[in-house]
Amino acid sequence: MRKIHVIGIGAGDPDQLTLQAVKALRSTDVFFVLDKGEVKADLVRLRRDMLDAHVPQGAYRVVEARDPERDRAAGGAAYSPAVGDWRRARADIYERLIAEELGEDESGAFLVWGDPALYDSTLGILEEIRDRGAVDFEYTVVPGISSVSALVARHRTGLNRVARPVQITTGRRLAEGFPEGVDDVVVMLDAHQAFRQYADEDIDIYWGAYIGTPDEILAAGPIAEAAPRIERLRAEARERKGWIMDTYLLRRNPKDQ
Ligand SMILES: C[S@@+](CC[C@H](N)C(=O)[O-])C[C@H]1O[C@@H](n2cnc3c(N)ncnc32)[C@H](O)[C@@H]1O
Repeated sequence: MRKIHVIGIGAGDPDQLTLQAVKALRSTDVFFVLDKGEVKADLVRLRRDMLDAHVPQGAYRVVEARDPERDRAAGGAAYSPAVGDWRRARADIYERLIAEELGEDESGAFLVWGDPALYDSTLGILEEIRDRGAVDFEYTVVPGISSVSALVARHRTGLNRVARPVQITTGRRLAEGFPEGVDDVVVMLDAHQAFRQYADEDIDIYWGAYIGTPDEILAAGPIAEAAPRIERLRAEARERKGWIMDTYLLRRNPKDQ
């Protein structure tokens, strides 16, 4: 039976690889690397550096494929179908890779940024391929250090306050309103800096971009003061590198304090 490891590799710092991840890397025959075009070339290189650092040369093969383009312009009602189409296109590619590039008794691996459990489609795609039934395999999941853990560690703060909930959401959702019933909100996948619309509120922001990589940028403070600073840092970094990955925690202060 073919085996697949879905390995969480941390948010960018090679030292965030767990011992479990390194063991899984060393038991892998074929690594599947999906390239998302020039702007993500840095991330592909980082994965390759991790392999060079932890797995003896020649002990594995790397198979590269082109990730399908996603229709990012589709908003509102069109958003879900666009994601569905993209998922199916990705499943077609993964299915072909597993069927054609992995021998019956071999192990393959997908290296997933951060933790595979958080805003990542690899597990859903593998389930879709199993449901299709054309190619048989079993798979295991190795948890990784997510960008959320890395963010709060770098800011030396926690995710929740004592006995309080915390919510992880997307920039798209935050733009629709601050979530109900929660004062601590982690925001990922925010291309439009949705935090700006809360700049008049009593909120502290803890922000990080390229966390764990040599390009890491951190900023924190009351949102009224920090938001313009983050906007500037973000625009400069994006201009310099051509792409950005950032995450932030919004911490709303209780009205009675
Ligand atoms: C598709 S999600 C993947 C999340 C990943 N599975 C995790 O556990 O961190 C991509 C989002 O993760 C966040 N992210 C991932 N790596 C990051 C990093 N090194 N620094 C800041 N944010 C990061 C950003 O919010 C980005 O938009």
